[in-house]
Amino acid sequence: MSSAKLPKTAPGIATPLLAWYDRHARALPWRISPDDRTQGVVADPYRVWLSEIMLQQTTVQAVKPYFAAFVDRWPSVEDLAAAETEDVMKAWAGLGYYSRARNLKRCADVVAADHNGRFPDTEEGLLALPGIGPYTAAAIAAIAFDRPAAVVDGNIERVFTRLFEIETPLPAAKTEIRAFVAEATPADRPGDFAQALMDLGATICTPKRPACALCTLSADCQARISGRQEQFPVKLAKKVKPVRLGAAFVAERGDGAVLLVKRPDKGLLGGMSGVPTTNWTVRADGETGARSAPFEAGWRSKGVVSHVFTHFELRLEVFHAVVTAIPDHEGWWSDSDSLPGEALPTVMKKALGAAYPALFRKGKK
Ligand code: ADE
Repeated sequence: MSSAKLPKTAPGIATPLLAWYDRHARALPWRISPDDRTQGVVADPYRVWLSEIMLQQTTVQAVKPYFAAFVDRWPSVEDLAAAETEDVMKAWAGLGYYSRARNLKRCADVVAADHNGRFPDTEEGLLALPGIGPYTAAAIAAIAFDRPAAVVDGNIERVFTRLFEIETPLPAAKTEIRAFVAEATPADRPGDFAQALMDLGATICTPKRPACALCTLSADCQARISGRQEQFPVKLAKKVKPVRLGAAFVAERGDGAVLLVKRPDKGLLGGMSGVPTTNWTVRADGETGARSAPFEAGWRSKGVVSHVFTHFELRLEVFHAVVTAIPDHEGWWSDSDSLPGEALPTVMKKALGAAYPALFRKGKK
């Protein structure tokens, strides 16, 4: 707590923040609005859990259509448990971080089989489930079950480091921030409190040019008082991401179908589908050209697509060929009707888009 200026103000945040939330809460499909709440409507833990898993590393805008598709197709945790993993992976394709989808399905299986279809209502109980870490356990406990858990996501980190001018750089500051959030979390409406902080961070206390004039907490915000809002949170300089190189091979059959393979279950994009690729290597002299194709064909380069993963940037040179003789290769041929429904991660859509500019344009499924 070394750098903090006014720890005693932390408990004073909840009242103005909840009053602001009552007027300005974002309408989100997994959320019970403050008005509905006063009518006695309670959150559905399945929807809260699903949204929290989807929202890890992904924006609200990107999540909305996926969330709608999931709850439409699998309205309850039992429905999801009864689904085929393959179908869940397909419905998840494009959201990224695919181990989340696999754990999502595992978690649904456990809740359905071992908990009678009911999510545990404590942080500890939730933490024991697949794919639920400390943040998600706290968020579900607070939002779905109104437990006074300290919920700390990136938005909330920004709000608190500004309120208390926490100079410790992230990620080291996390413990300090969590202590402040725990102190500030009210016994009444802890779930709305967490969501109010998320909304404040997303709409007012933004990373750049925060709208402090509109902020209900501005009078108490240390960074605002000293005019240093944009200097928080303090972050250590980002490491430059290494670049990995590879080649992707889009083999097209005479009828237009494309050869797809399933990637190994373990590892990046585990269990997802895609066109055959080389290994992805940091070596400039690696096997990344047409010579490393999985079989002989009239391969022609269609250019390079780039995709940024958490720990590296991938540059894939995309080769295309129309094959006359069907090669003896693992995988299956997917035609233009079935291709959009395949479990294709974004990088694979980019590779297919390089070979077929009309298909898989940015934003198109
Ligand atoms: N980001 C993570 N969880 C969220 C939630 N419940 N509401 C809005 N944004 C979020």
